[in-house]
Amino acid sequence: MSAVSETELQWHLQGNWAPVFDEVDGNELEVVGEVPRELNGVYIRNGMNPKSGHSDHWFFGDGMLHGVTFEDGRVSYRNRYVRTPAYLEEAGADGGLGDLANSKANTHIVRHAGKVLALEEGHLPWLVDEQLNTIGPYDFAGRLKGSMTAHPRICPETGEMMFFGYSMMAEPYLTYHRANAAGELVQTEVIDIPNPVMMHDWNVSRNYVIFMDLPLVFDLEAAMKGESPFGFKPEVGARLGVMPRDGGNADVRWFDIDPCYVFHPMNAHEEGDKLVLYVCRLNSAMRNGMDDMYSGDESLGKMTRWTIDLKAGTVQEERLDDAPIDFPRVDDRTIGMPSRFGYAMGLDPNAQSLTFDRYLYKYELATGGRDRLDLGKGVRGAEPVFAARTPESVDDDGFVLSLAHDENRNQSKFLVMDAQNFSGKPLAEILLPQRVPYGAHGSWMPDS
Ligand SMILES: [Fe+2]
Repeated sequence: MSAVSETELQWHLQGNWAPVFDEVDGNELEVVGEVPRELNGVYIRNGMNPKSGHSDHWFFGDGMLHGVTFEDGRVSYRNRYVRTPAYLEEAGADGGLGDLANSKANTHIVRHAGKVLALEEGHLPWLVDEQLNTIGPYDFAGRLKGSMTAHPRICPETGEMMFFGYSMMAEPYLTYHRANAAGELVQTEVIDIPNPVMMHDWNVSRNYVIFMDLPLVFDLEAAMKGESPFGFKPEVGARLGVMPRDGGNADVRWFDIDPCYVFHPMNAHEEGDKLVLYVCRLNSAMRNGMDDMYSGDESLGKMTRWTIDLKAGTVQEERLDDAPIDFPRVDDRTIGMPSRFGYAMGLDPNAQSLTFDRYLYKYELATGGRDRLDLGKGVRGAEPVFAARTPESVDDDGFVLSLAHDENRNQSKFLVMDAQNFSGKPLAEILLPQRVPYGAHGSWMPDS
C-alpha cells in the first residue's frame, strides 16, 4: 500500500470500510449471551475488499466472503476472497472488460438448487461452496449469455429462481431469466426499455415480476470522456413494468411513477387486482455522479409503499416512515407473499459520506409501525437477515442476524436477536476474530 494518510483516502477505504487482507479461521468463538441451539447452518456475507488496498469506487473492490457457521451452539468464522481473474491478476490487459466471467463477485451470495452463487451485477455469477472455496464462473450450462443481477428472487412456493440482467453498453438493455427448482435456466426474454439504466434490484410477487426503470442513466459519452458514467436524469421519467412470471416483452404493462431511485425493495405481494410493493425509496441517487453515493437525506432510502392497481392503471405512493434506511429484508420464506414483518438497516443522515447507523429496524408492513434496536454509540450495524426458528415457524418466530462493528474497540461482532423482542438485548453477541469491513449483502443458509 502507498503511504497516503487516512484523511486523503476516499470514504470507502477509511475506518471499517478499509479492506482486511488476511484469510483466517476462528473456532469456538467467544459469545456474550447464549447462541440458540436451533440455529444450525451458515450465514455468509459478501463485500468489497480490494486486494491491492485501493479501489476507485466502493463498488469495485474484490469480493470477500465472511462466513459464520453455527453448529449445536458452537460458532466459527472464516473469510475468503472469491478467487476471480481480477483477484488472481489474470484479467486481460483491458482489465477484462467485456468478459462476462470477469466479475468481482462482490455484492451478494445466494443458494439455489444446492449451488451457492457469489453475485455482482455486470457479469456471470461465481460458484463457490459453503466453506467459501471458489469453484468458478457459472453460466447455467451455457444458457446464460449475459450478466446476472446480484438480487435474484427465489420463490418459496415453486422453488424457481427469477432474475434479470442489465447492460449499459449495448442493447438489449434488459433481459429476464427464470430458472426452475432444479436450477435449470428455462426461460430468457429480452425486455425493451428506452434507456440504459442502472437496475440494481427488482420485485417478484406470486404471479408477476415488477421491473423498475428508474432514471439512473448510463451516459456513454460522459464515460468516454472520463466523467461519471451514471447520472440521475429525472427528465427521462420513471416506470414500473409488470409482467407475468412466464410472460415476455409483449406482456409487460408499464406504469409511470414520480422519478426517484430504489436500490432495494423489501418485498411485494398481490391483493386481488392490486400489487403492493414495499421499497426503500430515495428522492435521487448519484445526483452529482457515481462517486456521489450520499448527498444528504434525500439520497437515503425511506420506507415507501407503492400500490399498483392493475384494473385502474394507477400507482399510489405512500411514505410510511421518515427514518433513513436501506438493505431491507423479509423472511425468505415469504418472498412474493404478504410478509407480516420486514427488517432494515439504518443509515446516518448526519454523516459526511454513506454511513451505516447505530440502528436496526423491524417494520410491521401493513401498518408501517416499527421497532428500533439501538446498538449503542459508535456501533454500526449491517443488513439484518431473518432466520426461522424451525422450518414450520411462522411470522417472526425466529432470529434476526446481523454483523455489527464497534468502532470504540475496533471489534466486529455477529449479533443474534430474538425477532419477537427485536429492540431488546440481543440473545448472543459473537466476537469475531478479525475486523469485518462494512460490506454488502448476505444470506442465512440453514442446514437441511
Ligand atoms: Fe444490493
